[in-house]
Amino acid sequence: MHENIEFFQAFLKNPLKVGAIAPSSSELTQRMVEGIEPNENAVVLELGVGTGAFTKRIREITLNENSYLGIELDKNLIRCLRRNFPDMRFMLGNACKSFALHKRSQLGKVGFILSGLPFVSMPNEVNDRIFSQIEKFMEQGCTFRTFQYAHGYYMPSAIKLREFMRDRYGESQKSTLIMKNVPPAITLTWQTK
Ligand SMILES: C[S@@+](CC[C@H](N)C(=O)[O-])C[C@H]1O[C@@H](n2cnc3c(N)ncnc32)[C@H](O)[C@@H]1O
Repeated sequence: MHENIEFFQAFLKNPLKVGAIAPSSSELTQRMVEGIEPNENAVVLELGVGTGAFTKRIREITLNENSYLGIELDKNLIRCLRRNFPDMRFMLGNACKSFALHKRSQLGKVGFILSGLPFVSMPNEVNDRIFSQIEKFMEQGCTFRTFQYAHGYYMPSAIKLREFMRDRYGESQKSTLIMKNVPPAITLTWQTK
């Protein structure tokens, strides 16, 4: 319940950067973490952590604190995350600089990127910078997974992300529509071949 209030406060403060009115549901979370096996050499990098809907589940499957790094832009949310998940690593920062932030963390190779970033409501130039960061991680071999809301699926920036990824890594693996989420969403996954 606390998480919902903290999330909604962040939304009110900056609706375009938060991009949703509520944290992801447990059904969407389940699809986001499906098949992920984090370890020190296959670190989970979470971009746009929010109140930690995915983090909570990742923590249950993470071997130790060196298998996860969360990057979040909002300092109030970072404070809540550090309070709620004292054994997980978070960095206050911009996903546009995620490659350098990960390097600074001195954690091992990133094996999985989970993104909760609201690409649909963020400016194009910010999205482009984040895409190029994702590309750098993918070049080293990793899996990238994000979700898109059904109502935003055909918006130009949602299409642009899919095209950017498809041109480099082929067609995505798509989940079915997850109805038990506000709003309904699907997950998209790409892997470096
Ligand atoms: C839709 S919320 C997702 C939260 C959570 N992953 C979930 O699914 O419930 C998006 C989050 O991305 C964060 N965010 C937006 N732009 C960002 C950026 N450039 N770098 C890092 N975090 C960002 C927002 O502050 C917000 O917490």
